[in-house]
Amino acid sequence: MPDKNFYITTPIYYPSGKPHMGHAYSSIIADVLARFKKIDGYKVYFLTGTDEHGLKIQREAEKINKDPKSFCDDISITFKNLTKTLNLSNNDFIRTTEKRHLNSVREIWQRLEKSGDIYLDKYSGWYSVSDEAYYDENEISEEGGIKKSIASGSKVEWVEEESYFFKLSSWSNKLLEFYEKNPDFILPKSRKKEVINFVKRGLKDLSVSRTSFSWGIPVPRNNKHVIYVWLDALTNYISALNFPNTNDKLYKDFWPADVHIIGKDILRFHAIYWPAFLLAAKLDPPKRVYGHGWILSDEKKMSKSLGNILDPLEIIKYYGVDQLRYYLIKEVSIGNDGSISLENLKNCINNDLANNYGNLCQRVFSFINKNCDSNLPEPSKLQDIDKKLINNLVKKVPNLKTLIEKQELNSYVKEIIDFSFDSNKYFNDLEPWKLKKTDISRMNTVIFCILNQIKSISILLYPIIPSSVEKTFEIMGLGKENIKIDKIEDFNLLKPGNKIQQGKILFKKIDSD
Ligand code: MSP
Repeated sequence: MPDKNFYITTPIYYPSGKPHMGHAYSSIIADVLARFKKIDGYKVYFLTGTDEHGLKIQREAEKINKDPKSFCDDISITFKNLTKTLNLSNNDFIRTTEKRHLNSVREIWQRLEKSGDIYLDKYSGWYSVSDEAYYDENEISEEGGIKKSIASGSKVEWVEEESYFFKLSSWSNKLLEFYEKNPDFILPKSRKKEVINFVKRGLKDLSVSRTSFSWGIPVPRNNKHVIYVWLDALTNYISALNFPNTNDKLYKDFWPADVHIIGKDILRFHAIYWPAFLLAAKLDPPKRVYGHGWILSDEKKMSKSLGNILDPLEIIKYYGVDQLRYYLIKEVSIGNDGSISLENLKNCINNDLANNYGNLCQRVFSFINKNCDSNLPEPSKLQDIDKKLINNLVKKVPNLKTLIEKQELNSYVKEIIDFSFDSNKYFNDLEPWKLKKTDISRMNTVIFCILNQIKSISILLYPIIPSSVEKTFEIMGLGKENIKIDKIEDFNLLKPGNKIQQGKILFKKIDSD
């Protein structure tokens, strides 16, 4: 029996400012995968949340004279609200300031101490507060007297203080073996090389505590130190499963995670540090880390400091949530960086949603309302062209599942929208409005086939545009519980005589101005 449990996570977001499109993107990808697995019969656990400790947050709070906890309370709620606005199907929302997480991090620390992987020394080197990351001399450059990380462009500062270290250097070979044994641990493939080369160059021990500020989880038995925010943050993925209780049902059912969805900028933490911490703590590493590309605006990474943010809330207000979800999944190439713009968003809504899928639903529902007394007609024998339409989709389902398995969301959507295009063509070519006058029985068959095709396309689109598909199902007189992959092959679901409600416009066309 294959494992029918599926655990997926988003990064936990820094509540240092308003949520932006980059955050929305990570979350939407994870939600699409979670929803697909759910309708494919998996028991899914989907986690998101906020990463609230560390110097970055402490400084942001100080800027407005707030204590860091109430600062986080205020902003974390905006991320929680975003889960609703984006229509995420997450099971939990974790905050790293919660007690359950504190227990879990302390346990990890103690396990690392016990295994001999932690020692006390002194750190001196470069640190970026914005990335909460240590950088080597060869990873920084100087611009106008300011030292910056080459990778992220963020400012680094010199740090010298007593620190606990994690013996990362002793894990290089074990990590390389682990990547070898688990060839799909890091996806997309293009990023895997980067990580492996970095590890092959030899890893240095990692500073895992700080003494120069206090906003964090104190090191057990030495509260002069707070635990490094990345060791703290990564642990969220198991805290939410009730770790340290490894006998807990959630932990047993869902760890190791099937996939951590993250941006490429935080791959090193997830693909190197995290499995090393877990292996040292005698816990299983996750099965996969998928590092998506950045969303660019004017060819630059969209970020608060660059001030080039497209606000997801504004876009949703004007264009709708399914429209935004669809656009990001279809048009941003998941493994690479991708530019987004309002112009492209409008074109995508018009071409794919309004003129293609929306039009298909609208014209078929209206036809049934006008010509079949709003009832689904009884089909007669299917002809080859009908069978071809239906079978083309049915036989692609295993392939579509594989695309989801590999997180290849762009190809997945493209396939489905092509089915919708073919269905519109079938409707145009067979001209049921003419058949009405010449061959009612054939017209009934065509309508029966195309409605079944709408049902199947809608099921496949559900992970991306869930609320629109729920509306389509309601119009067809079907409950949400029927939105399941295995219903694609069920041709008895839509029964002749079923009432089809008045067709509504699902996606309004956007005027380009
Ligand atoms: N708190 C850490 C993650 C800890 S996970 C244990 C963090 N937070 S973040 O808020 O800065 O970023 C969260 C995610 O948003 C990252 O995956 C990051 O890649 C993603 N994005 C932030 N800006 C982005 C774009 N412009 N485009 C796409 N995603 C980017 O890192």
